[in-house]
Amino acid sequence: MGKLKIRDSWGSRLGIIMAVAGSAVGLGNFLRFPAKVASNGGGAFMIPYFVSFFLLGLPLMWIEWTLGRFGGGFEHGTAPGIFHSLWQKNRFIKYFGVIGIFGPLVIFIYYTYIESWALAYSFFNLVGKYSRFADQATMQSFLRGFQGIESNQYFKGLGCAYLFFLLTFILNISVIYYGIRGGIEKVCKIAMPLLFIFGLVLFFRVITLGAPDPTRPTWNISNGFGFLWNPDFSALKSAKVWLEAAGQIFFTLSVGIGVILTYTSYLSKGDDVALSGLTAASTNEMAEVILGGSIIIPAAFVFFGPQNIQSIAQSGVFNLGFVTMPLVLNQLPWAQVLSFIWFFLLFLAGVTSSVSLAQPAIAFLEDEFDIGRKKAVFIFGAVTFLLCHAVVFFLKNGVVDELDFWGGTFFLVVFATIETILFAWIFGMEKAWDEIHKGADMRIPVFYKFIIKYITPLFLFLILGTWFWQEWLPIIFMKGVSAENRVFILATRLALVLIFAVLAILVKIAWRRKKD
Ligand code: ALA
Repeated sequence: MGKLKIRDSWGSRLGIIMAVAGSAVGLGNFLRFPAKVASNGGGAFMIPYFVSFFLLGLPLMWIEWTLGRFGGGFEHGTAPGIFHSLWQKNRFIKYFGVIGIFGPLVIFIYYTYIESWALAYSFFNLVGKYSRFADQATMQSFLRGFQGIESNQYFKGLGCAYLFFLLTFILNISVIYYGIRGGIEKVCKIAMPLLFIFGLVLFFRVITLGAPDPTRPTWNISNGFGFLWNPDFSALKSAKVWLEAAGQIFFTLSVGIGVILTYTSYLSKGDDVALSGLTAASTNEMAEVILGGSIIIPAAFVFFGPQNIQSIAQSGVFNLGFVTMPLVLNQLPWAQVLSFIWFFLLFLAGVTSSVSLAQPAIAFLEDEFDIGRKKAVFIFGAVTFLLCHAVVFFLKNGVVDELDFWGGTFFLVVFATIETILFAWIFGMEKAWDEIHKGADMRIPVFYKFIIKYITPLFLFLILGTWFWQEWLPIIFMKGVSAENRVFILATRLALVLIFAVLAILVKIAWRRKKD
């Protein structure tokens, strides 16, 4: 006690905006978003999407920036401490904050592995490993071999995938080892502009595709954009479309996860959060709607046509990114270069997001247990390294989907609901509004006071309510899970409960130590 603790900090305002935007711009923007638009009513999806952005995403961005800066003032960089600082009289609220460490940790476990595929595929392009492949079946088989789902002429076992996983994992750990200013900020300041340049190169390449097959003039780029954006308004009546749009907003903006709270806890009291939060959110939307929406689907349309693209879009985000896109690029001049740009773009987008997913657990150890950064990174690295093996070895048994449902979907909404209620109702909307505007470089339109207090929580309750109503029983009873995979799903769930319990116990120990 009494020891002066110096928390890490950001080097510049641009640095934190790049880092938050880096956390937001990720695989979700370039893989998940186009697949969601194409399979949920095309342009009509954008109505619930933008409604969710303005009523959930943006308010939560401001809430998390403000809560993070507020908690940082009490030397807390994660939700247990931040929630406790907001509602000191409540002994239990810190345990709700456990979700803000649990969620990012769980996402980190599978996200890093998927990111490592992008690195591997970038490398495969450099050596021309699949440059002659021309059909979906061959490319699919290549991916399945790489993932260890089948043993074939391209890959025997998981050795190659494991090597790239190791490289990616070590890279992530090295970035966080150098800290907020020395690691994350530096990497994001280089990776983000590079990512936008790569995105723009692909964007211009795709919009100048015309109609590459003269025998099929309707398979042209404007029809490709039409496929993605022409609205099917009947989709608006489906609760599922609204849920998917809201889910995409959470995932893409990295809100409801806990990572923005941690990043902004390294701000100083007088730093702006209003304009910076808006800038980070807008940067992500630009990357998602303009770049993410203009690459994969329109490009696949002109080569595979309207019938195939429907089934491709619905066949899952990995197929779109790792099977269809390389095939499309293989048909263009400079195929290897373009394909390298595509996969390296995914890799950069992945790294700037995964380091943010690691940070809450590290900050928790540093802030609440006074553990030094290096030791905290070592503990985090050792634990997550072990956990990642479940994903590497049991991908084919549905482990990634299960982790993504709990860590990357369900708990995001739960956590966002808790944050909003705490901020607007427990802390109080008047105080909250003043807090947002401390040091602010803009005034948020006053109707957002009403939105944050009433509309955002109502919307969140509606999403949670509908979820429970429609999905709870089938999920609990593993409807649709094959008999052989049930044991893996059950084991994953038990492991998740165990991780949550360990984190809750750590919170208890940390607070007891502080009291002592
Ligand atoms: N926000 C990150 C993404 O879109 C997690 O991938």
